[in-house]
Amino acid sequence: KKVVLAYSGGLDTSIILKWLRQAYDCEVVTFTADLGQGEELEPARRKAEMMGVKDIRIEDLREEFVSDFVFPMFRANALYEGVYLLGTSIARPLISKRLVEIAEETGADAIAHGATGKGNDQVRFELSAYALNPAIKVIAPWREWDLQSRTKLIEYAEQNQIPVPKDKRGEAPFSVDANLLHTSSEGKVLEDPGVEAPDYVYQRTVDPVDAPNEPETITVGFEKGDGVSVNGETLSPAAFLTRLNELGGKHGIGRLDLVENRFVGMKSRGIYETPGGTILLAAHRGIESITLDRGAAHLKDEIMPRYAELIYNGFWYSPEREMLQALIDKSQDYVSGEVTLKLYKGSAQVVGRTSPYSLYSEDLVTFEEGTGTYDHHDAEGFIKLNGLRLKTFGARRQRLARG
Ligand code: ARG
Ligand code: SIN
Repeated sequence: KKVVLAYSGGLDTSIILKWLRQAYDCEVVTFTADLGQGEELEPARRKAEMMGVKDIRIEDLREEFVSDFVFPMFRANALYEGVYLLGTSIARPLISKRLVEIAEETGADAIAHGATGKGNDQVRFELSAYALNPAIKVIAPWREWDLQSRTKLIEYAEQNQIPVPKDKRGEAPFSVDANLLHTSSEGKVLEDPGVEAPDYVYQRTVDPVDAPNEPETITVGFEKGDGVSVNGETLSPAAFLTRLNELGGKHGIGRLDLVENRFVGMKSRGIYETPGGTILLAAHRGIESITLDRGAAHLKDEIMPRYAELIYNGFWYSPEREMLQALIDKSQDYVSGEVTLKLYKGSAQVVGRTSPYSLYSEDLVTFEEGTGTYDHHDAEGFIKLNGLRLKTFGARRQRLARG
């Protein structure tokens, strides 16, 4: 029997590796993806080798992650509950896709992941896997084993010759998930939502207070809704987001302290850092502001919360997400051009936008005299007809008030 495990090289997934072999008497293939989490992957390889894994898969998925997942999502300006840029949610479908593909390649019977039984991630991994291979079996050790406390986990590791880092012997300070789009931290010191997060939780942005005292002006180029350049330099999707992350991190952009509603029912508090994504969202809205017709813009804003919720809840590979995606992608045909932004102490302000496809007409909007395509008298009838029902309604209100 064979199982493909999503393996980070950390303590938890190393314990899972050992546990899978004991509980299922199976061979384990490890899969470790570089999604831009900023960690070396060689230690994960060495650890897997040391634990006797014969088939070790390590892949750089950064370009695919940004071009096929992050960019399509940003075309929608997706935000969950108004503020969360979905950095963890959007990475899970890609990991599942590769787990399922590797299972097919290696003739494995099942895939396994290290998400707990209380969170969103288990749902995302598993819904994605079932959509891509209805026959796949998924093993979620956190829902099966009896290692429910940190102490039991450490004991198990020590009994099984799994090295435990010194600082992991006590409670881990909090749980972190990172990739090119964001870093999220949850649990432990963050569990009381009434208490401000300590500064050491933040890992990739400076405190806005300590950010440079001079604003930095940048230009971001778009092609059909996707970022293609920074300051005139054409960049691959992953290089583009990496560049925006550097700029955002330096200026303290994209910090978020959020209490959110998990799909499984409870509220949780998280600290998010999405430096490049926060700049990208502002810039994308900037280029859309001159290239999208009002009807198109408002329609995609209406469906956005629904689209974001689908991604949050793990329905990336669902027919309704694909339908909404087709609509969103269609809206981006002319979303090309350049946006100028000012980065300053935690904020990314759009200060200019240009596009060969701009719908903005200075002649139409000017307070000076235009060339005559707009007739002020048309506005009179427009207001009269729109006001008709309001006059009727207002008259009744007056009648009733007089008694
Ligand atoms: N609450 C976020 C989400 O559901 C992040 C979950 C994973 N983060 C973590 N630190 N373990 O998308
Ligand atoms: C986890 O439970 O593994 C992390 C939190 C989440 O998935 O929401």
